[in-house]
Order: sequence, then C-alpha cells, then structure tokens
Amino acid sequence: MKTIICAIETSCDETSVAILSHGKLLANVVASQTKVHASFGGVVPEMASRLHLENLDHVLKQAFQEANITGQELTHIAVTKGPGLIGALHVGLQAAKTLAALYQIPIIPVHHLAAHIYANAFLEPLLFPLLALIVSGGHTQWVLMKKNLSFEVVGETVDDAMGEAYDKVARLLDLGYPGGPIIDQKAKDGQPTYPLPTPLLHDANHVSFSGLKTAVMNLVHQAKQKNSAIRVNDLCSSFQEVATNMVVQKTKKLLQQYQIHHLVLGGGVSANDALRTKLKLMGQSEGVHVAIPPMWCCTDQAAMIAKLADVMIEANLIGDLSMAADASWSIEKATLI
Ligand code: KG4
Ligand code: ZN
Repeated sequence: MKTIICAIETSCDETSVAILSHGKLLANVVASQTKVHASFGGVVPEMASRLHLENLDHVLKQAFQEANITGQELTHIAVTKGPGLIGALHVGLQAAKTLAALYQIPIIPVHHLAAHIYANAFLEPLLFPLLALIVSGGHTQWVLMKKNLSFEVVGETVDDAMGEAYDKVARLLDLGYPGGPIIDQKAKDGQPTYPLPTPLLHDANHVSFSGLKTAVMNLVHQAKQKNSAIRVNDLCSSFQEVATNMVVQKTKKLLQQYQIHHLVLGGGVSANDALRTKLKLMGQSEGVHVAIPPMWCCTDQAAMIAKLADVMIEANLIGDLSMAADASWSIEKATLI
C-alpha cells in the first residue's frame, strides 16, 4: 500500500514531526527542549507539556514545508501513544486526533520504545530473530523479537534506567544535564582508576544501576569529608567502564542463551561511544551482526514513529479516535492498540 504518513512524537522533551512518503523520509523536524530543562537539572514534566503545545504548530508547519506536501495528500497520521510523560503525550495525541479528523484519515498509535528498534530499519532491514537493546533515560530493556511486531522482554533493569544513572551521576558531579553525553566525553580524557563495584543480582537476566550510582555518591561524599579533590574525568571513566561492561556482558549472555545472531540498539544511551565500540567488538568475537544506528536515529525523533507506523499499516494495525495515551505502556503489548 502506498502511504504518506505524518508522525508526531511528544513523549518526553523533544517535539518532533516527520513525513514518510512511500517509505522515503521527506522531513524529520526536531525541536529540542533540553536547554530549558537543563537549568532545572532534569526534565520538568509540566514545562515539557507547555513547550510541546508552544512548539508543535511551527514544527508541523516546517515539516510540511520541507516535505513539500499538503495535509490533503496524507494517507495516515501516526503518533506516540506511550510510554512517556502523560501530559506531554496528551499534546501530541490531541494534535494527531485533530489532523486525523480534519483530513478523515486513519490514526496509528505507536509504541515509543518499539519505534526506537524500528529506527534501525532506516539503515538496513531488520532480520528476525533479533535481540534489541533499548537504553534510554527511562528504560533499559533487552527485547527478543522472534518475528516482525513481536516483542518479549527477556531482561531489564530492576531500578534506575541506564540514562537515568548517567544523568544522576552527572548531577552529583555538577556536570550539567543531560549527563550522558557529558560523562561520555569526560571519560575519554580519564582512566578507570576508581574501584567501583558491579552490582550483582540473583536473577541473571536483569541488571541494576542504583548500587553503582550509590557507590559514586559515597565516593564523592567521602572525598568532600576528607577535603580531597575528585579526579572528575577518571571518575566518569570508572563509572562508564562498569556501566557499559555490565550491559555488554548481559547482552552477550542473552545472545548466547537465545542463540541470536542479530543485535540492534535503540534509545538515547545507544549514542554512547564506549558502548557502541564494546558492542561492536563483542559482536565480532561472537559472530553476531550488530546494527548501530546513526546518531540522529538514537535520540527521540518522529521519523522512527513513522517507520514503525508504516509496518503497522502493512499489518492492518489501525487505531481510532477514542484511544488514550498510556504513560506506562509495556512493549510486550505494543500491537494491542
Ligand atoms: O531515548 P532518549 O532520547 O529519551 C528517553 O529517555 O526516551 O534518551 C535520553 C537519555 C538521557 O538520559 C541521556 O543522558 C542519555 O540518553 N544519553 C547518553 C548519551 N547521549 C544521550 N547516555 C550516555 N552516553 C551518551 N553519549
Ligand atoms: Zn526515547
């Protein structure tokens, strides 16, 4: 089926609209709110909703302009239904419903994390079965996909998400927000000389980041008490070493356990340099093909929402105007729309 999809993403702090025409990406406009939230040290949900409301109109206009199409030409509207901040999701959903009603076209409710996986399809076809590692500010999950549109969570964090741990450690060290890219950068100029523990869990398929974060916190407090200086670059390097090794080891174990030879990455933390390098090396030694998305694909944008919507349309997964946002939508239910 020939499709011209307008996709809207407002689940967190990026307002984004994409136009995908017959599988070709014509526009992918992203208005980031990061700078505004940075002064508060993290995303302020109420402010995110208000900024989406302010930004969405001009982001929509710019996307239509760049794609050089009119609303009448659209065949479908796609929108992030969840997971994410409930107020922020509502803004995108209401806009999408309005456009769907105005142009009398179907609406496709899309799962944000599943879309992070399908973002990789801009690069290369997804080969099933595959293992997806989703690492973002809100989630850390290993998802087994035996076939198209089938999602089984086979491992996850029991506490903080990986990106959340990066952001919290960066706040502790007064490095700014978002912490991930800053720590990634500082770690390059440091050595992993601080001894930090790798949290161990009884359930071998899960990981925990809160113990690691607490270990960094104790180290910083002890240094302050003793009036001794922290070697920030070395501490960033030490934290990153443990965090990335933990994720790479778990990924390797799950690939072996489920005999999977195709790994894809998704979510903001997949932009992490050390993680990308280590996963690539692990893939080479394990005979696993590792799909590493380009940077623009890692963080939040509407192109990935359009991509998954295209696949859902093909599978006849169409929503309706009565649907509601779902802030904690499980990826295992991504096709129950
Ligand atoms: O997927 P995303 O854009 O938003 C959601 O959470 O849905 O991910 C944002 C997270 C933040 O926690 C940010 O610190 C982290 O991704 N991040 C990174 C890097 N770039 C972004 N973490 C580690 N290294 C990076 N280079
Ligand atoms: Zn995301």
